[in-house]
Amino acid sequence: MVANVQTLLDEGLAALAATSDAQELENAKARYIGKEGAITALLRQLGALPPEEKKTFGATVNQAKQAFEAALQARRDALTADKLAKQLAAEALDVTLPGRGQPSGGLHPVTLVQQRIEALFRSIGFDVADGPEIENDFHNFEALNIPKDHPARAMADTFYIEGEAGGEPLVLRTHTSPIQVRYMLNNQPPIKIVAPGRVYRVDSDATHSPMFHQMEGLWVDEGVSFADLKSVIVDFLRRFFERDDLQVRFRPSFFPFTEPSAEIDVLGERGWLEVGGCGMVHPNVLKNVGIDAEKYTGFAFGIGLDRFAMLYYGVNDLRLFFENDLSFLGQFE
Ligand code: DAH
Repeated sequence: MVANVQTLLDEGLAALAATSDAQELENAKARYIGKEGAITALLRQLGALPPEEKKTFGATVNQAKQAFEAALQARRDALTADKLAKQLAAEALDVTLPGRGQPSGGLHPVTLVQQRIEALFRSIGFDVADGPEIENDFHNFEALNIPKDHPARAMADTFYIEGEAGGEPLVLRTHTSPIQVRYMLNNQPPIKIVAPGRVYRVDSDATHSPMFHQMEGLWVDEGVSFADLKSVIVDFLRRFFERDDLQVRFRPSFFPFTEPSAEIDVLGERGWLEVGGCGMVHPNVLKNVGIDAEKYTGFAFGIGLDRFAMLYYGVNDLRLFFENDLSFLGQFE
C-alpha cells in the first residue's frame, strides 16, 4: 500500500513537471488532488481501514498530498516566472539604442555646380544677376539680334505660352541671354555679371531635357577685347576643373548676338567636348539696349550647367538629375 502511494506521488510529480502552461497545471491538479483525483481517492479509502492501519497509511497519504501541493505551487511559480520572462523578451525595448534621427537635406548637384561657378566669378569681380523664366519676344529674341525667321523662334524649338506682355508674345525663355538684355537696359557699363537659371526648349533625350540650366556671362566696358574673353574663360575652366594644364579651344561659330562668335571646347579623355558658346557682344545688341557701341565693347558667354555637372561628377545621363531619386541625389553633398 505504502509503496503504491510513493509510485502515485512520483507519477503526480512527473505530471506536474511535464506541464507547460496554467491550463495543463490545473488539469494535473484535478487528476491527483481534485474531487475525483487519485490521491483524494486514497484518502476516501481511509474510513474503511482498521484503526492501526488508518493511522500509518493516513500519515503517508497526507504527506504525499502535501508533497504534491508543494510541487504544484513551485511549478505554478515557475510557469508564471517563465511566462513573464518570455513576455519581457518579446516586448524588449533597448532604450540605449541611438535614435533614428532626421536625415539632413542637401543641395542638388546642379545647384552645387552653379554655386561653385558663381563663387569663381565673384572672386574676379562679377555680380550675379537674375531674370524671369517667362519672357517676351523682345528680351528673348528681338533685342538679341535674333531675326524673325531664325530657327530658334520656330514652334518646334520654343514653348510659346498664351498671353502677351508689352504687345509681345510670351515664351518660356530658351536661354539665359535675355538676362543680359534686362541688365544692360537697367545698368550702364562697367558691367560684369553672370546669370544662372532654368531655360526651356522642345527637346528630350539622354543629353537633352525640355528644362535645363544655363549660366550667362557678360562683361561690357571700355576696351574689353577678345583677349579678355579668352583669358577669363580659360582661367575659369582651369579653376573649375582643377587642372592647370586643361586644354581649351575656341572654335569659330555663329550667334546672332555676338560677332565674332566661338564655341568653347575642352580636351577630355575622349577628345574635344563642347561646353558653351561665346563672342564679342554684337553692336546691334548694345544699340538695342541703349549702350554706346562706339565707346564700349564687351564679351558674352553661355554655358550649360547640367553639362558642367555631368562632367564634374562623371554622370552620363542628364535625366538622372531630374528624376528626384534620393539615392542618386544624396551622393553629391
Ligand atoms: N544663348 C546661347 C544658347 O543658348 C548660348 C550663348 C552663346 C550665350 C554665345 C552667349 C554667347 O552669351 O555669347 O545656345
